[in-house]
Amino acid sequence: MARVLIGVVGSYDERRGLGLVEQDGRQHPFHCTAISDGSRRVEVGAAVSFVLGPSHGGRHEAVAVTKLAPGSRRTAVAVRPVRADERSFVTATLEQRWGGQVVVARGFPVHADALDALVAVRDWGERVGLLTYRVDRNSLEVVTLDAFVPGEGVGSALLAAAGEVARSAGLWRLFLVTTTDNLRAIGLYLTRGLRIATVHQNAATFAREIKPSIPVLGHFGIPLQDEVEFELVLGGEGPPPRAG
Ligand SMILES: CC(C)(COP(=O)(O)OP(=O)(O)OC[C@H]1O[C@@H](n2cnc3c(N)ncnc32)[C@H](O)[C@@H]1OP(=O)(O)O)[C@@H](O)C(=O)NCCC(=O)NCCS
Repeated sequence: MARVLIGVVGSYDERRGLGLVEQDGRQHPFHCTAISDGSRRVEVGAAVSFVLGPSHGGRHEAVAVTKLAPGSRRTAVAVRPVRADERSFVTATLEQRWGGQVVVARGFPVHADALDALVAVRDWGERVGLLTYRVDRNSLEVVTLDAFVPGEGVGSALLAAAGEVARSAGLWRLFLVTTTDNLRAIGLYLTRGLRIATVHQNAATFAREIKPSIPVLGHFGIPLQDEVEFELVLGGEGPPPRAG
């Protein structure tokens, strides 16, 4: 189970690319590559969220180190795999947020209810987010990502946990697609170190033929036509996936 923790940067040596996060009196080392916006820079004293992951030396270090906006409402969230007895929760969430069990990504229908899934939970057990994913060749594809409470770090926590699943499986990359109107999701991905891998022109137009409930106009009246593919290259074992 990946637990997203909140701490403060206690020290950071930009030249060596090494720092320490302090959290509840504990200190966790981190490497500059763990800073999720890819900047390799963070100020001492900055509030950050992070996940503990194994380091090369077999100990734990902070990864997915994410700078928090001043006054952030973030609270600690744990992310764990969905249990077998929670399948009805997955089905209900997909129904409510995606209009059914089938989502269309890159022009292909996917039965998201049959996929592996991660759930975000607060300390008192309240479920606050769901991510479904699948592994194909050496990539992990995030198929759906939903935060039930906006702007409290749930989307970031789920994304960081999926990154950990992919990293610990030695996969090459994590990727996902979103439509061009989803500025909130695009902002999330770009500030968490993902990069644009490719643009699938007219993928949303094709998707509408499979799932007519997909609207013609999205948020802000932006036409739903194209899908943007974002990726986080983890550089695990094996060659990069074939293009296309
Ligand atoms: C996209 C989604 C998962 C984000 O989850 P969230 O829990 O609100 O996200 P977080 O609180 O972890 O992170 C918010 C980040 O989004 C970005 N963001 C938020 N609002 C934004 C906006 N209006 N414009 C650009 N970026 C924005 C910022 O980078 C922000 O980070 P910051 O708080 O450090 O500044 C959530 O909005 C959601 O469930 N949307 C509906 C389903 C969906 O669209 N899923 C993704 C498509 S696959």
